[in-house]
Amino acid sequence: MADEIPWERLFEEALRVRLRAHVPYSRFPVGAAVLYADGSVVAGCNVENATYGLTVCAERNAFAAGVAQGRQKPVAVAVVVDTPEPCPPCGMCRQVMAEFAGPDIPVRSRTLNGGEARYSLGELLPHAFTGAFL
Ligand code: THU
Repeated sequence: MADEIPWERLFEEALRVRLRAHVPYSRFPVGAAVLYADGSVVAGCNVENATYGLTVCAERNAFAAGVAQGRQKPVAVAVVVDTPEPCPPCGMCRQVMAEFAGPDIPVRSRTLNGGEARYSLGELLPHAFTGAFL
């Protein structure tokens, strides 16, 4: 499955949307792109707020946009940051991913200098709390 994922296309989208990040406080733009089972890609960037606490990460914005666009089944996630080492998604974003995707969904994170980290959501968030418990 992982071999069929158009990672370059996903990372291109993540790179592109990263340029739109609203990051006047951290100056830490992040881009994320989610591939859906129908082949569509939905991207999101981080959007900060003067209250700081209302900041929404790139990954969560991508998943929220996917819901708004009626996308059904996420199958891969790409993240781009400009850090020396690839940056994994934050805990809140992992939990939001677990709302929509199972533990096998691949998540890859790249830096601008050619670094890449590969994870599964299950590695990032073992023992996820999901609606199955409710
Ligand atoms: N951020 C993301 O967009 N995704 C992550 O996975 C980590 C952090 C954002 C939030 C904030 O705008 C900035 O990066 C610094 O934390």
